[in-house]
Amino acid sequence: MSQASQRVFSGVQPTGNLHLGNYLGAIKRFVAMQSSHECIYCVVDLHAITQDRSVWGGPEELARSTREVTAAYLASGIDPAAHIVFNQSQVAAHSELAWIFNCVARVGWLNRMTQFKDKAGKNRENASVGLYAYPNLMAADILAYRATHVPVGEDQKQHLELTRDIAQKFNIDMADACTEAGYPDGFFPLPEPLITGPATRVMSLRDGDKKMSKSDPSDLSRINLTDDADTIAKKIRKAKTDPDALPESMEALKGRPEAANLLGLFAALQDATLETVLPQFAGRQFSELKQALADLAVEKLSPIAGEMQKLMASQDHIDAILKDGAERANAIAEPVMADVRRIMGFVR
Ligand code: TRP
Repeated sequence: MSQASQRVFSGVQPTGNLHLGNYLGAIKRFVAMQSSHECIYCVVDLHAITQDRSVWGGPEELARSTREVTAAYLASGIDPAAHIVFNQSQVAAHSELAWIFNCVARVGWLNRMTQFKDKAGKNRENASVGLYAYPNLMAADILAYRATHVPVGEDQKQHLELTRDIAQKFNIDMADACTEAGYPDGFFPLPEPLITGPATRVMSLRDGDKKMSKSDPSDLSRINLTDDADTIAKKIRKAKTDPDALPESMEALKGRPEAANLLGLFAALQDATLETVLPQFAGRQFSELKQALADLAVEKLSPIAGEMQKLMASQDHIDAILKDGAERANAIAEPVMADVRRIMGFVR
């Protein structure tokens, strides 16, 4: 497949505050794809409402958070003129295709999704049907644009595999109609996850075995994208460590989650690899790494926080970008949906 026919799609949920995990695991990667690909970046507000209202926060918080994710995209360097930035609920294709995929995906496939099990917790009977079907909506997000590449964090790999399974089953089940519609090799591409570089999983600053998360009760566990320089420095200073000096080799990093996390963060923020960063700190104390990491984090994140603040002050500007992006997204998705309807036999 030529570079020209490669299309990137990805999304971030507008729930709660954005943190370093969202930035390094998602947004920073999105920025990097722009020079080589046509990119579509979505604020997935329909995904946000799959959990209880107490989690997504209600209408005012959803709107605020949708604009905040948009501001983070822009402040990090995503160009909404050269690419597409929009919120999911403004393009009807997502919901429409998700319904069709509800009828393609098997209950047995969804039952294997570990994110559902984690998010539903013990009381699975009380989880929303939307939370259960979440991966089908995610497949629709990607395939409504017939996207081929999806930059995501490690935790989304299983959902990407499900997306491929859905695309493949659709192509096989509807093979005759796909051929009839001019797609003898199947209508949907099988999209590939792009999971590269250090800090694909950013861990809690208080526990190197737990993911950095907006729902952790301790704010010290995460660096928020809106934290000021003093707060960033304080959180890194207080980060959990172990008693030994920093390791000399990748091998010696095993079983030392806090060292791995802090070194991984340093590498990711510096656009370096863990292998090149390791010798810089080998045999040194955690305090030296923390000082260097705090300086680097402040240097990289403060400008983003400042720009986000400016953007958030001009709501109309953000809303106009989302509206323009939604129109351009719709212009791509609508012809895809027209083909899907024809393939399925929905009369128009
Ligand atoms: N599920 C993703 C996450 O929690 C967000 C998401 C929704 C997404 N739709 C997507 C990511 C489509 C990539 C492509 O991070």
